Amino acid sequence: MRTASAEAATAAALFRPVRLGPLELANRIAMAPMSRYLCPDGVPHEGVADYYRRRAENGVGLIITEGTYIGHPTAASYEGVPFFVGDAALDGWAKVREAVHGAGGRIFPQLWHTGSFRQSWMGPVKGVAGVGPSENTNAFTSHPEPTREMTEADIAAVIDAYARAAADAQRLGFDGVEIHAAHGYLIDEFFWERTNRRSDRYGGNRRQRTRFAAEIIEEIRRRVGPDFPVSLRFSQWKQQDYAAKLADTPAELAELLEPLVDAGVTVLHASARRFWEPAFPAESDLTIAGWAKKIGGLPVIMVGGAGLDRPGLREALPASLELLEKPLARGEFDVLAVGRALLADPEWALKAKAGALGACRPYSRDLLAAL
Ligand SMILES: Cc1cc2nc3c(=O)[nH]c(=O)nc-3n(C[C@H](O)[C@H](O)[C@H](O)COP(=O)(O)O)c2cc1C
Repeated sequence: MRTASAEAATAAALFRPVRLGPLELANRIAMAPMSRYLCPDGVPHEGVADYYRRRAENGVGLIITEGTYIGHPTAASYEGVPFFVGDAALDGWAKVREAVHGAGGRIFPQLWHTGSFRQSWMGPVKGVAGVGPSENTNAFTSHPEPTREMTEADIAAVIDAYARAAADAQRLGFDGVEIHAAHGYLIDEFFWERTNRRSDRYGGNRRQRTRFAAEIIEEIRRRVGPDFPVSLRFSQWKQQDYAAKLADTPAELAELLEPLVDAGVTVLHASARRFWEPAFPAESDLTIAGWAKKIGGLPVIMVGGAGLDRPGLREALPASLELLEKPLARGEFDVLAVGRALLADPEWALKAKAGALGACRPYSRDLLAAL
């Protein structure tokens, strides 16, 4: 039986300040990016500012926002996704940023291109087909419409849209940005051999398949300078295939991550569905976060199932911090991102600190209906 003092020691370790490159965070708890689809016309409103402020004022050191639409028509996806382009949306984001800073938190917007998940009838920009690295990558999604292979001009325009969004984030006083390169969306489609069948310089072996992401990072760096934090979120799993793998061995993971580190990311965000699972069981019991840290030598965000007693299930209950003990002791991560537990209860972090996780509101899908 786990003791209250073991739980308190783990909570205390999460509440130590931490650095993400040039940025100091008050503690090691982040809110994981979670799309809520509740921004009519793509404009973040007062309710969005309140939603993030409530987490910041209750002990969350870093907010990573829901995925946002970067200003390229092929990136416009679902109705209600906030834009990170245009005066109205950027004014809204400035207020969100102010609210989070006012509560002592730090905040990164997540920049998102959904790739072949887009369908031409979807979202705020109708009539534009989905694009991917290759034709018909939508064969791996449940969507019927064919995907168009991106031309080099499309690629350049999308890179520019990412970089403009990052520069806008810096101008608006955000503390960094996160690039969504996970879960089977556009950047991950370039990483994955099943969806990237290109024969030009954006396709080929694993290292070559990172070129698109590396060019996005380099262009962002060129516009924001060396000191603005850039987090890159990657995952083995895909929205359309939980068992998919980008890398079967640590050496293959290094082929993927090293070019991204060289391109200038500050933080690697290793998205797992269950953070404690060994990434390469034949090698060791290190988590994917632990491997990212070992390979990249950069600060790492770990995520997946924290605070849920039956992770992966829709009706989960708050639980203990026990599974964090080993990765904490081994320094496998710097920041823990918490998704559903924090969506359900804005006070999750302070309740964890007080040893009162049992008092948290449990997550359920019904909570997605409102902020
Ligand atoms: C409602 C919901 C929306 C999500 N939207 C995003 C998103 O916009 N971007 C992203 O990278 N991950 C998204 N995720 C994944 C979460 O960031 C997180 O990785 C996942 O929920 C596992 O963490 P958890 O077990 O702490 O919830 C979403 C998850 C949920 C539950």
